[in-house]
Amino acid sequence: MNFFHAFYKTKVFPILLDLSMESKQLGKARAKNLVNAHGRILEIGFGTGQSLEHYPQIVQKISTVDTNKILNKKAQFRISKASIDVQNHIANAEKLPFADGHFDCVVSHMTLCTIEDVNAAMKEVVRVLKPGGKFFFLEHGACPDIKIKKWQDRWNPIQRIIGGGCNCNRYIDLIIESSGLKIIELENYHMGDAPKILDYMFQGVAVKEINDRSMGSRLSE
Ligand SMILES: C[S@@+](CC[C@H](N)C(=O)[O-])C[C@H]1O[C@@H](n2cnc3c(N)ncnc32)[C@H](O)[C@@H]1O
Repeated sequence: MNFFHAFYKTKVFPILLDLSMESKQLGKARAKNLVNAHGRILEIGFGTGQSLEHYPQIVQKISTVDTNKILNKKAQFRISKASIDVQNHIANAEKLPFADGHFDCVVSHMTLCTIEDVNAAMKEVVRVLKPGGKFFFLEHGACPDIKIKKWQDRWNPIQRIIGGGCNCNRYIDLIIESSGLKIIELENYHMGDAPKILDYMFQGVAVKEINDRSMGSRLSE
């Protein structure tokens, strides 16, 4: 890693990320998405903790994972202000340090775009969810408008560099459904706080069905 890359990654990117995750629209969407979060909750890709203030009051405690120690350091300020107890883990979503069926809910906000092996991470999400458990997601990704999608594909290599590995062209709904979860709520829209190639949203809830015998076989495909 050269000096400029290291400087960007450690000094510039954490500030840009925190600012870009802070919009009013995104805050509203986070709160709406989390309104039914309950019980044992895991948030993957916790970042700088921007979602923390949007959990409903009933939530007293969450577990989180993120791989980025610098972002996690920034998150400590929000954690110290929050009324929620945060069990913070520097860990990889592709290999979650939790037992099978441990959580009632898993949350992912603006994170499925960035996880390198997102299918492996979703397999882990399914593993740690209880049967009947819910996956709350708020993500940006591939736009159905062909012209915008073409620009997303063109821009993506640059996005990956400046966005810390973020991909702007992933088919988020397909990724979630191919993990075996069933999407029960989905809203797609442009957030309006960023260029159209970056703000096409997938917001909703998916469930780990209680007697889904196909789950294991679909995941191992
Ligand atoms: C765009 S940020 C979103 C942060 C936060 N969820 C938010 O909404 O503000 C994506 C986050 O995913 C984290 N991440 C990337 N790959 C990961 C992985 N394999 N496991 C866990 N977290 C990961 C990054 O470190 C970063 O904090």
